[in-house]
Amino acid sequence: MSQELSHDFVQLNSQISSLIVRLSPAPEIVYWGKAILDLTSESEILAIIDRAVSQARLDVDVPVTLCPEIGRGSFGSSGLEGHHQGNNWAPVFQYTSHTLNGERLTIECKDELAKLSITIDLQLDSQSGVLSKSISLRNHNKADYQLEKLALTIPIPYRAKEVMSFSGRWSREFQSQRHNIEHGAFTQENRRGRTSHEYFPGCIVGNKAFTHQTGEVWAFHLGWSGNHHWRVEAKSDGRRFVQTGELLMSGEVSLKHGESYTSPTLYSSYSCSGLNGLRAENHRFVRQNILQLDQDKPRPVHLNTWEGIYFEHDPDYICQMASEAAQMGVERFIIDDGWFKGRNNDKAALGDWVLDTAKYPKGLNPVIEHVNQLGMEFGIWVEPEMVNPDSDLFRAHPEWVLSTPRYPLTTGRNQLVLNLQIPECFEYLYHCLDDLLSQHNIAYVKWDMNRELLQPSHKRKAAVRGQTLAFYRLVDKLRGAHPKVEIESCSSGGGRMDYEVLKRTHRFWSSDCNDALERQTIQQNMSLFFPPEVLGTHIGPAHSHTTRRQHSINLRGVTALFGHMGVELDPVKESEQERKAFAKYIQLHKQHRELLHSGHSFVLDSCDKTRNAYGVYDDTQLLLAICQKAMPDYSLPEPVLLDMLDEDALYQLILLELPEHGEGIMKHYPNWIEQLRSNEEVRVHGSVLKQIGLSLPIQDPETCLLIYFVKCES
Ligand code: DGJ
Repeated sequence: MSQELSHDFVQLNSQISSLIVRLSPAPEIVYWGKAILDLTSESEILAIIDRAVSQARLDVDVPVTLCPEIGRGSFGSSGLEGHHQGNNWAPVFQYTSHTLNGERLTIECKDELAKLSITIDLQLDSQSGVLSKSISLRNHNKADYQLEKLALTIPIPYRAKEVMSFSGRWSREFQSQRHNIEHGAFTQENRRGRTSHEYFPGCIVGNKAFTHQTGEVWAFHLGWSGNHHWRVEAKSDGRRFVQTGELLMSGEVSLKHGESYTSPTLYSSYSCSGLNGLRAENHRFVRQNILQLDQDKPRPVHLNTWEGIYFEHDPDYICQMASEAAQMGVERFIIDDGWFKGRNNDKAALGDWVLDTAKYPKGLNPVIEHVNQLGMEFGIWVEPEMVNPDSDLFRAHPEWVLSTPRYPLTTGRNQLVLNLQIPECFEYLYHCLDDLLSQHNIAYVKWDMNRELLQPSHKRKAAVRGQTLAFYRLVDKLRGAHPKVEIESCSSGGGRMDYEVLKRTHRFWSSDCNDALERQTIQQNMSLFFPPEVLGTHIGPAHSHTTRRQHSINLRGVTALFGHMGVELDPVKESEQERKAFAKYIQLHKQHRELLHSGHSFVLDSCDKTRNAYGVYDDTQLLLAICQKAMPDYSLPEPVLLDMLDEDALYQLILLELPEHGEGIMKHYPNWIEQLRSNEEVRVHGSVLKQIGLSLPIQDPETCLLIYFVKCES
């Protein structure tokens, strides 16, 4: 679908969007939006895009190129910053050549004076519409080039007036904010050495007041697990752009003659149907291009021991927990932190990856065998990049700590970071993990990372990049040796969630906050970039460990359904009634798992901001959850209009979950619910549900309704 429009323009097309690139004098995106399939001549494009030159500025037109250059007259934020010992600080790149290979356009540019070249790689996935972009810089100069920044820049249209960004903290990931894009920039910088809770490397721009279901929107995500910077700017001439990249520390990258640096990949998507369109494209792209899941294997339901027993590991008791878990329908049992030598709290033992034989005198295998005999897979927690000062490893190798010599070592969660760029340290960790996986039937590893990098130096130079790449290498090497083992990316919850880590892992631990009310927002925002099957969603204890709030099983169960489901508590201590309820939700999840993990996720716009209406659908069915987060804004709920249904089909309505209610805020239910409660069938035409909508009951705060619509055979 891609085509050379002329010697100077290339157009890439997907089912949803088109990208038109002008190649010279320097590569520039002239269009990135709704698919245009009939633009074919250079003169047509040139006639319409040629810009005026304003008074009192440079006498030439200055494009916002794919790597804006201060030397060309782009007075905004440069795509490249660096120098050869102070020289060549403002290079100007000229297009030299390009190749178009299917969906992929590669453009070469050079500055002959500075002896630097850049290669820009653009790929528009024709199926999902996701555009991937990366950029490389090569130094052809005899002098070393100190690289300070090589950013990815994408222009956005004037009508992109708002940016939605995502910030957070431990136990409160992915909170969204909106900012106007006008006269200046919205910026964000992450220097924490991991993807971070604080600033997700992604944003969405769109027209004023875009919503889940309406508006033109563009999403951007940088696939990188280290430091990053973001900028969304309206220039003084009104043109605007998104710019992002790896945030390099001083002196972090120095290129010798012939060496090159390649940026992380920027993923962008476009939708003219609001955020739901972006969800659809991003999910499709991740499913087809990022994830390495066995498509034929359903995602097993988890039980994770963390909030159940913390560091108190007793194998007999754990076996009892496993037996209860199996009864409830759990398919994978994971022992969390606390299994290795001396790990009785979070103050000691990280780095000493041998079993605590005081806790497990007969080894781990009897527990694993018990779990396997119950028909479940076994998983285990590790945190390989870390070391406690109180550990045999630290006592033997204090020099393996990632730090800057002679500066104080500051601990975080009582731990320090190991320098994975030291080959002996890397090999030590690899062998610990390899031995663990070789000696036990372990199907799943929860790979945690619980602190930021402070003063991260290798050979006295800044080393966030080196550490990030070494982390990838360690995971890759382990996966190479144990390809069947699945890995969860966890970093105090959702502190390391991005597409680059997802290429080598299988799901995320979304948040340490299992409070279902908080999870409603966290999961909904995560779902803009990640499909539900990679988001760990667990039913936690009724009394949330992080917020101290108390929630019914209705809210906890329905909230955990829409992800990779699990349970995180001690089933032995739970009441028979609660255990039955866990079993019910697990069963419900399994029943709808295929739809949940392959269908189209959506969120409905509501005039009442206290409710979340969301679901998943495919050609024959739709699952809808309505979560009433707080006291409703209005006394009658807005009917739901399901515009994704087939208007010619008849749908049967099945009420999967009707929350309890007292006399409080509702006298009686809408008619269709009364009919279902008296075991009458309710069938409604798609066109009616699409245009008139379904009346809803008035829900008490902190409750969920769950409705299933299934197409009737005609
Ligand atoms: C932080 C994780 O997010 C938790 O789920 C748990 O694994 C603890 N670490 C264990 O130390």
